[in-house]
Amino acid sequence: MSAPQLTIPHTALADGTPFPLIGFGTVKFQGPDGVEKIAGAIEDGYRLLDTAAQYGNEATVGEAVRVSGVDPSELIVTTKIAGGDQGREAARTGLTESLRRLGLESAGLVLIHWPNPSRGLAVDTWRTLVELKTEGLAAHIGVSNFRPEQIEELVEATGVWPEVNQIQLSPALPRQSALAFHREHGIVTEGWGPLGGREGLASQFALQKVAEKHGVSPTQISLKWAVDQDVVVIPRSSDPQRRRDNATLDAITLDQEDLALLGSLDLGEDAAWDSREHEEW
Ligand SMILES: NC(=O)c1ccc[n+]([C@@H]2O[C@H](COP(=O)([O-])OP(=O)(O)OC[C@H]3O[C@@H](n4cnc5c(N)ncnc54)[C@H](OP(=O)(O)O)[C@@H]3O)[C@@H](O)[C@H]2O)c1
Repeated sequence: MSAPQLTIPHTALADGTPFPLIGFGTVKFQGPDGVEKIAGAIEDGYRLLDTAAQYGNEATVGEAVRVSGVDPSELIVTTKIAGGDQGREAARTGLTESLRRLGLESAGLVLIHWPNPSRGLAVDTWRTLVELKTEGLAAHIGVSNFRPEQIEELVEATGVWPEVNQIQLSPALPRQSALAFHREHGIVTEGWGPLGGREGLASQFALQKVAEKHGVSPTQISLKWAVDQDVVVIPRSSDPQRRRDNATLDAITLDQEDLALLGSLDLGEDAAWDSREHEEW
């Protein structure tokens, strides 16, 4: 008998659309093995999937959607415009190609992957995403790795705010000023790298202490800490049990003592990848 479906909590986009607070990251998941893992996540109850043209696995994600048997209209498949596809026409071609690989007529959410300021094409790319949404090729649009002033540039040129900004975020990188800016402007924050693997978060004593107190894994504490702030998390796991654990957070109640301990893990804003300098293609 299969395990009961996960019950995943939701936040809402600025237009009121319910949006899952826990999604499934797919980077590195490729081929038949990747299909099995991603389809497994959908069968578990995950409804938000995160991919990107840059990950080279959109066809894998599309196949997983078909294998799962879940109607694509019930899923929010996120993809991202790669650095090399920035610009007015290139972004349009980029999304069209992504949809072909995904086998979908429309993407649930399309983000500009990185601002890449050296090319100066983010505003043109954003104009195109605004059009693509109007045309129905993207249900929702947003950005990733944009700093507040980089978002303001898009809005000054178009009058349209991103619905989502996906940024590097975990208890090691709490990004409080970005979160405050997003809240002020109705932007939903998504956290990538929510387990802080790049920052060695899991082995931190403070995190382990909170996890032991609640009898759960350090991973679940990191994710619950984010979800409690209405931040969407997109952890990736190749392990079926960990995949379920990552979306089973309701029974955890973090108190002030826990939050103070988790607050001690902050490495400071400078430890996050800086999109004024870091670019990806
Ligand atoms: N917008 C961007 O620029 C950007 C950048 C990076 C990533 N992303 C997105 O964010 C998603 C998540 O980030 P990420 O993949 O870098 O890292 P992550 O989800 O923070 O961490 C993934 C790692 O954590 C392990 N893990 C997962 N659940 C666990 C658990 N319950 N206990 C112990 N270990 C666990 C996984 O190993 P196992 O597989 O063995 O469980 C894997 O090695 C990506 O898949 C991608 O979709 C976006």
